[in-house]
Amino acid sequence: MATATLFQYHPLGLPSSANPKYLQSLGRRVEGVDFDHLSPQQTEEIVNQLYRHSILLFKNTKITPKQQFELTNAFDPKAGDYGHKTRTSKKDQQSILHPDLKTIPHQPQVQLIGNGPVPGRYEGLESPQLKHPHHKTFHKEPVSDADEAAGITRFYRWHIDAALYDLSPPKATTLYAVRVPRGEPQTLRYDDGTGDELKVPLGGTCFVSGRTMFDVLSPELKSLAVRTRVEYAPHPYVWMSKAHALPTGLGIESEGLELPLEDLPDWEEAKIKKFPVCWKNPVTGDLHVQVHPCGARKLHIERLPSGAQKSGALYPEGGVVEDLKEVRDILYRIQRPGIAPELVYPVDWEEGDLVVFHNRGLLHSVVGAFKPDELRMFHQCNLASTDEPEGPSEADIQTYA
Ligand SMILES: [Fe+2]
Repeated sequence: MATATLFQYHPLGLPSSANPKYLQSLGRRVEGVDFDHLSPQQTEEIVNQLYRHSILLFKNTKITPKQQFELTNAFDPKAGDYGHKTRTSKKDQQSILHPDLKTIPHQPQVQLIGNGPVPGRYEGLESPQLKHPHHKTFHKEPVSDADEAAGITRFYRWHIDAALYDLSPPKATTLYAVRVPRGEPQTLRYDDGTGDELKVPLGGTCFVSGRTMFDVLSPELKSLAVRTRVEYAPHPYVWMSKAHALPTGLGIESEGLELPLEDLPDWEEAKIKKFPVCWKNPVTGDLHVQVHPCGARKLHIERLPSGAQKSGALYPEGGVVEDLKEVRDILYRIQRPGIAPELVYPVDWEEGDLVVFHNRGLLHSVVGAFKPDELRMFHQCNLASTDEPEGPSEADIQTYA
């Protein structure tokens, strides 16, 4: 029997490209919420539902930066600061995230992101100039100008919102659409030799479930995934600042362009992050493949537990993988099946949409390209957590290793 809820939760309309078998439980549109009067019980229900569905969409909302911060904070009450540190030193400013964020001065956990010139004073910012990330600034071989003019695009970068060094990954991200330019849908090409393509709304945000990314793996790759931890580079966004991405936006080409560790801003061993490949959902207990492939530098693989089936097992003896190309190839094998066109949910934004997503349960990427004067404005908020993601339990290891 279904339990009564305080709000109404409706399935998201799926695009025709989506496979309902995997995507029907992903995301819910929530009705009946008044952000001016949210009780603790209502907030608790929203938090709980997010862990079950990974994406919550609220239509026609009006939410102030303060209310957005408070909602985001409800997922992690002990957290208080934005998910990335403010960059101050010259070396820090090489970070590839630098140009994309404008901090709202009166609510510094909330960032203004988007595209185009914002006229006048906005939330305390003087005529901020915004820039939608374009894949040609990041991918090794971008689509040609002619193809772009014909409406071809790419996933810019599949990622988790996380500093991946020192700070812990935010539990939830909230994205509030203030201004959304309308335009024709585009064709997203994977360009990785598979011929995969996907129709996407202009400037949509694409999501894939980390749980599905795990579920679709072969038993051998599930075994490897539950035994592996990813070590991220110190200051990964500076480390990768000269490197180029794969055409799928799911990781980096191995060209030897990463900055040497001694050229990075000061770092310490104790602040380097080592996260499991699979993160355990605290409400459902499901395993989600949660890897930010661009920042990965090493893999630490546990040997197979005694009694596990050895034939066909990958890395049965475990070990540390330090060769960057091998690290990336392994992660790509684990993650690429999960971004297949039928598993992608693209949000077709409308003004007033508020999306909350489980940042420890899915990956996301922006797509598309805007003209310099096309105005698009979003408020984004996430908070560096005070705890680390949990990995597979002993029982999970028994089941999957
Ligand atoms: Fe993001």
